[in-house]
Amino acid sequence: MTDTTAVCRRLVGRTAVVTGAGSGIGLATVRRLAAEGAHVVCADVDEASGKAAAEEADGLFVRTDVTDAEQVEALFKAAFDTYGSVDIAFNNAGISPPEDDSILETGLDAWRRVQEVNLTSVYLCCKAAIPYMRRQGKGSIINTASFVARMGAATSQISYTASKGGVLAMSRELGVQFAREGIRVNALCPGPVNTPLLQELFAKDPERAARRLVHIPAGRFAEPTEVAAAVAFLASDDSSFVNATDFLVDGGLTGAYVTPL
Ligand SMILES: NC(=O)c1ccc[n+]([C@@H]2O[C@H](COP(=O)([O-])OP(=O)(O)OC[C@H]3O[C@@H](n4cnc5c(N)ncnc54)[C@H](O)[C@@H]3O)[C@@H](O)[C@H]2O)c1
Repeated sequence: MTDTTAVCRRLVGRTAVVTGAGSGIGLATVRRLAAEGAHVVCADVDEASGKAAAEEADGLFVRTDVTDAEQVEALFKAAFDTYGSVDIAFNNAGISPPEDDSILETGLDAWRRVQEVNLTSVYLCCKAAIPYMRRQGKGSIINTASFVARMGAATSQISYTASKGGVLAMSRELGVQFAREGIRVNALCPGPVNTPLLQELFAKDPERAARRLVHIPAGRFAEPTEVAAAVAFLASDDSSFVNATDFLVDGGLTGAYVTPL
C-alpha cells in the first residue's frame, strides 16, 4: 500500500485544484499532491472539512459549490491569483444519495440533483480550468468517474451511473480536442473504495459486502491512498502520453469473470 511519507516529488511548484477535498478520495489526494510538492487549492461545499484539508496541506481553501458556475470560476481564479498557475484540476466532488435508486423509484428531482453535482460540475470545472491551461500550453485534468460507468449493476443508482458515463465521454472528448495544446484530460474510474460510509453500511449488512467482494480479484476494496497515488501519476509528467483514457483503479474488477476462491 502507498506510503505518503516516502513519495517522490514530481509536482514541486505546480498548482492543483481538488474538488471534494474534505473527505475520502479528495482528502487522500490533497495529502498526496501536497507530499509531492504541489500547492493545493482545496474546494468543498463543507467548510469545516475543506478548511481542515487545506490547513493540513498548507494550501488554500475556497468554499465552493461545484454546481454554481460563478463559484467555480472564482475557485480557479483564486488558484491562479494565489499561486500563478493552474496546472492540475482534480474534479472529484460527487454524491450518491439514497433517493437515487432503481429507475422505477427515482424521481426527477433526485435524478437532476445527481446530474448537477456529478456531471454538470465537471463541465463547469473543465470550462473554468482549460483557459488557464491553454495560456500555459500545459495542464492535466483528472475527472472522477467510477467503475459503474463500465459495468451494469442490478443494485442500480440510475442517475449516478448515467452521470459517470457522461464524465467518461466528456473527458475523452476534451482530451482529444485539447491534446495539441499540451492539455491532457483523463477520467479516473475507481472501484469500490474503503470509506467510513461503506464500512458502516457493510458492517450492518455482511451479505451486501460479500455480494460485491466476490467480483473483485484482489479480494478487497481500494484504500483512498491507492486512488490518490493514481491521481498523482495522472497529474505528473510521468503520464505525459496518457490521455483521454478511462483510467481504471479497480483491483481488476472490470476485467474479471471468475475470481480466485
Ligand atoms: N467511494 C467509492 O467507493 C467511490 C467509487 C468510485 C467513484 N467514486 C467517486 O469518487 C468521488 C469522491 O468520492 P468519495 O467516496 O471520496 O466521497 P465523499 O463523500 O467521502 O467526499 C465527497 C466530498 O465532496 C463534497 N461535495 C459534495 N457535494 C459538493 C458540492 N456540490 N460542491 C462541492 N463539494 C461537494 C462533500 O462535502 C465531500 O467532502 C465521487 O465523485 C464519487 O462518485 C467513489
